[in-house]
Amino acid sequence: MHQYRGVTNDIFWVGGSDRRLTLFEHIHPLHHGVSYNSYLLLDEKTVLFDTADWAVGRQFIENVTAVLNGRSLDCLVLDHVEPDHAAALEEVLLRWPEVTLITTAKAVQFLNQFGFQISPDRVDTVKEGDERTFGRHTVVFLTAPMVHWPEVMVSYDKTDRVLFSADAFGTFRALDGKLFADEFDFERDFLEEARRYYANIVGKFGPQVQALLKKAAGLDIQYICPLHGPVWRRDIPWFLDKYAHWSAYEPEEKGLVVVYASMYGNTEQAAELLCAKLAHRGVTNTRLYDVSTTHVSTLIAEIFQYSHLVLAAVTYNLGLFPPVHALLEDMKALNVQKRTCAILENGSWAIRSGALAKEKLAELKDMTLLEPTVTVTSALSQSSGADLDALADALAASLQA
Ligand code: FEO
Repeated sequence: MHQYRGVTNDIFWVGGSDRRLTLFEHIHPLHHGVSYNSYLLLDEKTVLFDTADWAVGRQFIENVTAVLNGRSLDCLVLDHVEPDHAAALEEVLLRWPEVTLITTAKAVQFLNQFGFQISPDRVDTVKEGDERTFGRHTVVFLTAPMVHWPEVMVSYDKTDRVLFSADAFGTFRALDGKLFADEFDFERDFLEEARRYYANIVGKFGPQVQALLKKAAGLDIQYICPLHGPVWRRDIPWFLDKYAHWSAYEPEEKGLVVVYASMYGNTEQAAELLCAKLAHRGVTNTRLYDVSTTHVSTLIAEIFQYSHLVLAAVTYNLGLFPPVHALLEDMKALNVQKRTCAILENGSWAIRSGALAKEKLAELKDMTLLEPTVTVTSALSQSSGADLDALADALAASLQA
């Protein structure tokens, strides 16, 4: 049965939500599913904006068919051709063989690479600033390379002032029958997942996102229609501000993420005692995570949110504990920068985790290392308390500055 929603009088959401997928891109856990959004414009011509993942293919086709209500599909705008949005393309081409594809030249190349047989005579290739008029509606196409793939463009409907933003402004989490961000308590229900989505999917490409934000600033945007998550029609500046922070790698707030790696509980105890000492100093905006049991996508999102990071890491095989190494590699891959960090190391002999963590942090941009580094030898001892006090003092001074 079809289930579509009107965005404006002429534009309809025709996507679907997937609650069966456990790993997005087969790497990031989905705790509450994800939506694949597609939008259909009814004008003198009918225009579909992107398709959907095949997981929701049946729902998507039912929705498109219902909204078309017997009309043919004239145009298909492809803003982004990653398979979570282009997988249903073949079905669209089979059902509406007269459809014209409107997309970038790079997108056509990728579609061919993915095995779609796209005849050049059914493609209308567009580039930066090109416009197409479909009746009452005129749409301008703006390229957004590397947000987060090279072929990406966004489409702006000048008539209803709708930005079809591709993956930008998207988020994990299924839509639960609602559509607009203001139909949720977004800050409560979505923000963590929006941040985790941004940091891990798009986070590497901050400068490119900033370029897109600059283009968006020149538009009168009444609606943002992303390819995942809810549609924005209210509080758009609030969400743009989140993107401004994330894309500039600026923390949203002063606060501390403590990530510990602990084989027998001793490093964990040291990390928790550090947080207790901070609480005693009035610093309570702290989060403590076990690197072994917390998915790295969550840790990355937390590091994007907060200003300070403590790595509390045991030495393992004379090196870094593997999940800590993986976290630091992911931080580098995702361009994490501009954070204040401190180190707590542990080991029973040949303690190297602190020095190695510092080496990895030095590979990141604009990271400030806060001293002292605390060294625990196997387990907390009488002298550990004073060392942790010194680090707590330094962290509190930095966080309260
Ligand atoms: Fe949601 Fe880049 O695909």
